[in-house]
Amino acid sequence: MSEAHNAILEPLINEVDLHAGISELVDRIADDFEGEELYVVGLLRGSFMFTADLVRLLYRRDIRLVIDFMTVASYGAATESSGQVDMMRDIHIELEGKPVLLVDDILDTGRTLDFASRHLAEFKPASLKTCVFLDKPSRRVVPFEADYVGFTVPDLFVVGYGLDFDGRYRELPHLSVVKTDA
Ligand code: XMP
Repeated sequence: MSEAHNAILEPLINEVDLHAGISELVDRIADDFEGEELYVVGLLRGSFMFTADLVRLLYRRDIRLVIDFMTVASYGAATESSGQVDMMRDIHIELEGKPVLLVDDILDTGRTLDFASRHLAEFKPASLKTCVFLDKPSRRVVPFEADYVGFTVPDLFVVGYGLDFDGRYRELPHLSVVKTDA
């Protein structure tokens, strides 16, 4: 793979389809948590855009929220997971007895969400559900299924809508595939 700034990108999910998929996801979440105060924990940095859209749509569905973020590191600049997951920044809210929704950008090998959900379970939430923008089931190493999945994608390296290639392309409002070297 060449430098990230030379990458050739091909659109995979356009903005309209992306938001339609997330709206459907939010309908399901809002139905499941109607009348509850939901504790949302977003995984930085990849889920920042997804979490921001998700919580605004949940607000419109009258779901009250408490929001925090957690940073775990499972990827470097490379496109392959190292297998090691480390806690970089923990949450600063109380989760005991609360309904919690853990949000991530993509469920790939499963290591990140497995690690993060085990960590949050230690705070003894009343319930713990997981929500991902993307699921790449063909890459799973650790058995893990998310409760809410926006889109299932094939084994391609994707960028945009918060997902990066070496820090780049997070700002894209749609999802693209990194194709080839320039
Ligand atoms: P695991 O393997 O732990 O991976 O489930 C989750 C994290 O890996 C990153 N990841 C990607 N990032 N394009 C990206 O920009 C991809 O196709 C991709 N696949 C995995 C991502 O940070 C995610 O949180």
